[in-house]
Amino acid sequence: MIITVASLKGGQAKTTTAVHIAAQMQTHAKTLLVDGDPNRSALNWHKRRGFPFEVCDERQAVKFSRDFTHIIFDTQARPGKEDLEVLAGGCDQLIIPLTPDALSLDTLFVFTDSLKQLGATQFKILLTIVPPRPARDGEDVRQTLTAAGLPVFRATVRRYKAFQKAALSGVLVKDVADEYAAAAWADYEAVADEIMSKTKGEAKK
Ligand SMILES: Nc1ncnc2c1ncn2[C@@H]1O[C@H](COP(=O)(O)OP(=O)(O)OP(=O)(O)O)[C@@H](O)[C@H]1O
Ligand SMILES: [Mg+2]
Repeated sequence: MIITVASLKGGQAKTTTAVHIAAQMQTHAKTLLVDGDPNRSALNWHKRRGFPFEVCDERQAVKFSRDFTHIIFDTQARPGKEDLEVLAGGCDQLIIPLTPDALSLDTLFVFTDSLKQLGATQFKILLTIVPPRPARDGEDVRQTLTAAGLPVFRATVRRYKAFQKAALSGVLVKDVADEYAAAAWADYEAVADEIMSKTKGEAKK
């Protein structure tokens, strides 16, 4: 399975999502994370301590990819028109992480409109960095997206400091010394379960 993580706006948790989806997929089959962001955030995160899956530069992707069952692409924010066409056509699932705030939502609609114009149908929005209750930001944005007919993951990734600690210390969130580390990891586990149940459903068809 080839999964791309992309967004028009920066700081939507693309890299955090790509890293943790890759970690979850690796528990099922050999997984490669391809860092397509010139900032090399995923590679730098990996270099600090080493993830339990392979990470490579996008320029090495062709050489690496034949040995892996799953490939996850992390991308840079603000993809150009050409990038967008590649994004839209080159994967089985395009995950669009979205933080629940008005500015991010406006940019998301621009992005999904462009994707629709390119005929892309395999995208799905993932709500990330969702503030804890009693804040209703996550639910409110989900309602707006659903009303607009856009596909959204049932699973949501909540806002936990553990994710920042993970990136700082070069580990996965489950390996951070933080009381919410397991809860944070479980959020991405639910996302991966949703992705995998989609593929099982397709295999049955
Ligand atoms: N669920 C979360 N809870 C709290 N903080 C988070 C969460 N997910 C990501 N972050 C933090 O938010 C910031 C942005 O995340 P990340 O780097 O993954 O976003 P990005 O979309 O890849 O950014 P860029 O557009 O710069 O590539 C980072 O500091 C990260 O640690
Ligand atoms: Mg990034």
